[in-house]
Amino acid sequence: MKETIKKLQSYVPEEPLAKIKEKYGIDRVVRLSANENPYGPSPKVVAALNEFDFRQENYYPDGYAQELRTKVAQQLKVAENEIVFGVGLDEIITYLSRVFLQPGDEVIVPRPTFSEYALNAAIEGAQVVSVPVNPNTGKYDYDQILNQITKQTRLIWLCNPNNPTGQYETINELRQFIKQVPADVLVLIDEAYIQFVTAAQPASALPLLKEFDNVGIMRTFSKVYGLANFRVGFIVLSAKLAGYLQTIRLPYNLNSISQRAASIALDDQAFVDMVVAKNAAERDKWESFLQNTGLKYFPSQANFIYFYVDDPNDLADRLLQKGFQVRRELEPHGLRITIGKATDNAQIQQIIKDYLG
Ligand SMILES: Cc1ncc(COP(=O)(O)O)c(C=O)c1O
Repeated sequence: MKETIKKLQSYVPEEPLAKIKEKYGIDRVVRLSANENPYGPSPKVVAALNEFDFRQENYYPDGYAQELRTKVAQQLKVAENEIVFGVGLDEIITYLSRVFLQPGDEVIVPRPTFSEYALNAAIEGAQVVSVPVNPNTGKYDYDQILNQITKQTRLIWLCNPNNPTGQYETINELRQFIKQVPADVLVLIDEAYIQFVTAAQPASALPLLKEFDNVGIMRTFSKVYGLANFRVGFIVLSAKLAGYLQTIRLPYNLNSISQRAASIALDDQAFVDMVVAKNAAERDKWESFLQNTGLKYFPSQANFIYFYVDDPNDLADRLLQKGFQVRRELEPHGLRITIGKATDNAQIQQIIKDYLG
């Protein structure tokens, strides 16, 4: 077996809500630890799936996800053969690492950022070089990233807005950086949360695909579309690189129910607009609250907020006892909370206020 696997720890999934309820003797637990959408999927998706014809389940799904592919291509103004679908971005991250990495290669990841980039690099036996974000602003330190590029560097992962800091990088910041990156190093921009950005319109780095061949843009249906359970994500990159990913993609990775759900979700822009507006209003309230507490936090452009406390485990335990599950163990003092519905946010903020005394 691969030696690298023996040294790794498996991903610790979210504790099931039923288990938490039983443990703490509470009726309601709100999961705010996985950046899911508290406003649910679009009612149009629910209606369409109620009409779904399950008598066709003896057939494999469309392995090319043609209907969904055409819609995504039209909406993003990219070519159909530049898109690769995965069972969530999780699968896309796995594919990218599998295709582009071998032992001895290096990948650069910011710190902190989404943990799966480094995990998948390690599985392939590649070295992970992590570059701390600017501790004052939470922004990427492009000079340091450029300094770390060597002949072995294959991939640079940039999550935008970054998970967990919530920091947003403008397209111009990304463009200036990518101009200095060697053409044989692939820059992967994970836009899992891009629709939540309100500071810049349009927010996406998609136009960079026309300027550079060594860029990939990643999107998911798990966040703003509220379809985490359906597991649909995709990457857009040059047709040549997309072809390599297609070679190793499982032939029927997206089932037809998920394809349908994602396809309907794309049409419901009113639902997306509602989610983005509510999230932005609640995010403002969270930032004013944190400002008043004096705790260090980063202004967020995503659907979560990240701040530092002396003992994040202690506070996370306190919140869990009261029915709110949040994300800990990201950095020694960091705590990340998904921005929930107004009444839940107000309750959490009160708990934190009482906790700080
Ligand atoms: C930055 C980032 N990328 C990718 C993912 C994985 O998303 P998916 O549900 O599409 O697998 C997540 C999930 O939280 C994430 O935060």
